[in-house]
Amino acid sequence: EDTKMADKINVLIPEETVDAKIKEIGEQISKDYAGKEVHLICILKGGVFFACELAKRITVPVSLDFMQVSSYGNATESSGIVRIKKDLDDTMENKEVIIVEDIIDSGRTLHYLIPVLKQRNPASIRLCALLNKPDRREVEVQIDYLGFDIPDEFVVGYGLDYAQKYRNLPFIGVVEPDAAEDAPETAEGAENVTGEEKGENVE
Ligand code: PRP
Ligand code: MN
Ligand code: MG
Repeated sequence: EDTKMADKINVLIPEETVDAKIKEIGEQISKDYAGKEVHLICILKGGVFFACELAKRITVPVSLDFMQVSSYGNATESSGIVRIKKDLDDTMENKEVIIVEDIIDSGRTLHYLIPVLKQRNPASIRLCALLNKPDRREVEVQIDYLGFDIPDEFVVGYGLDYAQKYRNLPFIGVVEPDAAEDAPETAEGAENVTGEEKGENVE
């Protein structure tokens, strides 16, 4: 059987709207950190597209570092422990740190990570997220710079994946996984993207 399916991706936030918002956040950060330097910590993989675009919109000196954490499985969900898969290369000591994430969902990743990073003695630490799903929050997380609150839908693009795909879409879309089984109609403002075999739903 042919396992190839076309996931239908509906546009939730168009490219121009995302780009305008990133520019706005970049300008706000540039004002807030005037006379200082900022150290952006990008959380891989999802944060990478947003971090790059945001960095381009910040006018104070920017340094970048990267960290990758495991998504908690069911086994660790109760404990809220997040495993560091790739740690930072550089020290955070006395730096004005901004953590850059694509999305805050349950909040567990950042709820765990922020206190861990605070122990490394940054001058300050703030969180910047492109998207927030307030309906999904399980633990408290303070987001200092936010792009958009979004409804509880499965979103992709701008770093967000569906089984590792669609991170590269330049807009925020919503996946309709069953679309391929329906008639191949294309709604206005929607795009059809051909996908291969789907893995588990691992946002
Ligand atoms: C996603 C997303 C955030 C985190 C948010 O990453 O990019 O990092 O989950 O979820 P939470 O608020 O419920 O903790 P994921 O673990 O899918 O890894 P990825 O960035 O490599 O896709
Ligand atoms: Mn992530
Ligand atoms: Mg993911």
